[in-house]
Amino acid sequence: MLEQLAPPAEDPILSLTVAYRQDERDDKLDLGIGVYRTADGHTPVMAAVREAAIAIAAQQDSKSYVGLAGNEAFNQAMITLLLTDTSALARTAAIQTPGASGALRMLGELIAYARPGATVWLSRPSYVNHQPVMEACGLEVREYPYFDPATKQVDEPSMLAAIAKLGPNDVLLLHGCCHNPTGADISWNSWQKIAAMAQQQGFLPFVDLAYQGFGDGLDADAAGLRLLADTLPEVLVAVSCSKNFGLYRERTGAALIIGETLEHAQRAKGHMQRIARATYTMPPDHGAAIVAHILADTQLQQSWLTELNAMQQRIVRLREQLAGAFREASGSERFHYFQHHRGMFSVTGLTPEQTAALRDQHGVYVVGGGRVNVAGLSENRIDKLVSAFLAVGA
Ligand code: LMR
Repeated sequence: MLEQLAPPAEDPILSLTVAYRQDERDDKLDLGIGVYRTADGHTPVMAAVREAAIAIAAQQDSKSYVGLAGNEAFNQAMITLLLTDTSALARTAAIQTPGASGALRMLGELIAYARPGATVWLSRPSYVNHQPVMEACGLEVREYPYFDPATKQVDEPSMLAAIAKLGPNDVLLLHGCCHNPTGADISWNSWQKIAAMAQQQGFLPFVDLAYQGFGDGLDADAAGLRLLADTLPEVLVAVSCSKNFGLYRERTGAALIIGETLEHAQRAKGHMQRIARATYTMPPDHGAAIVAHILADTQLQQSWLTELNAMQQRIVRLREQLAGAFREASGSERFHYFQHHRGMFSVTGLTPEQTAALRDQHGVYVVGGGRVNVAGLSENRIDKLVSAFLAVGA
């Protein structure tokens, strides 16, 4: 059986991590996979996470099963964190999932079950895992125009014109904040237009919110989602705690279903539990138990928020410093977009040849398409990145 298998395609992000680890150069620089790093290049365990993990280890007296929907205190805390002050709070159900990719898969399977033949629309470009996950659910995938490579901003007129043609058989996948890979987010004005169009045309918004707190702050980053949640009968949400709680390896996420009524949302939740049972049965508990513990404790929640805000502000500063260093070294404004983008990533528009030269000649690893993880950069490596970019002709 196995001899007939062709070699599998490599994952464009995770394969970089492997190549980087094998690279023996001392001055190599990993700006591939999306992890936050401190000034000394370390991805820390947040103080509140460490404290919660210690408390859980001391208090937990059983490792018995939790349930198909995972940790319900965590699910409720995620609903509150995302949908604060919206009417959707009373008509939303959630299941805990293994990361946001797990949530994308569970929600994709739900769409395929509830609306066979639906088309899922992805931004061009989008997170590399969106298309494979949606296609694995048997859904048709198409793209709407999003990023303008010339301005490095969202081409909002083209995006809105494409969305204006969607109807009840369409699902519109939106990045809640900190667009991956581009770093270019849609304006408040566009969120309002999308909400109005969804109301009139009947397409279903599906929001992927993997970086809440990394863009402009916890509430600001959820503003677009909250607008949709408040005004529309149905919205799907995939959420991750990988970045804002630094729980990457614990695979902690949630799939939220906002329904016209709570009964609709709970029925959909029941179907997702059935789908989860046929996939992985139930998610691992540890990360969700930590998040639930933090969000139920005022002092720990404050500690988490303070640390998260410090991370967000440092990313903004890194972006300013990077744009400034490029301005000085290149004598031009063509890298100013680093300053305007939000979240971990910026798409730089490097060609495949320039990306390969960055890696081979300078030991700088960025994702294909030229995505740079700004949040993985240390202040003292900015000059290396800038000179490598200019040396490959960026
Ligand atoms: C990334 O885009 O680098 C992260 O979201 C990691 C992942 O799961 O692909």
